[in-house]
Amino acid sequence: MINSKIEEELNKQLNREIFSAYLYLSMAAYFESENLKGFAHWMKVQSKEETTHAMKFFNHIIERNGRVMLEKIDTPKINWKSTAEVFKDAYEHETKITNFIYEILELSRKEQDYATENFLQWFVSEQIEEESQTLEILQKLDKIKDSTGGLLVLDHHLEKREG
Ligand code: FEO
Repeated sequence: MINSKIEEELNKQLNREIFSAYLYLSMAAYFESENLKGFAHWMKVQSKEETTHAMKFFNHIIERNGRVMLEKIDTPKINWKSTAEVFKDAYEHETKITNFIYEILELSRKEQDYATENFLQWFVSEQIEEESQTLEILQKLDKIKDSTGGLLVLDHHLEKREG
């Protein structure tokens, strides 16, 4: 049986993962408006991944005999000044998510909830990938700067991301 403090924190993280899906979908919509189909595709795949993350929290809460309590989802940002700014936001968002995962991990250790501690290990590994892939694209965009040709090559490359 899950304790109420852990249950509350897991529900908050479930909400954050759903918000992440919403944020990346908003980024996909922005790229669609810029006619950058590859970037839009990459963000749609990312959004779907976040829904999968949310469902992992949903299922863990249920399996631990807790109660899933869905909350309001915040409105995501809808406009950016540049492609690089989008990925700067994505990278910063992922570092925040990593810190939240670490905080819940710390709490689960303190509360001796070893099942939740074990469950969160998957997210510790996943966040390494989440941070590194957004940072890699951001660094490429920094190199490309104002080159339209470079941007279109990267757009073509990102279209190949598998879901
Ligand atoms: Fe579910 Fe991108 O963190």
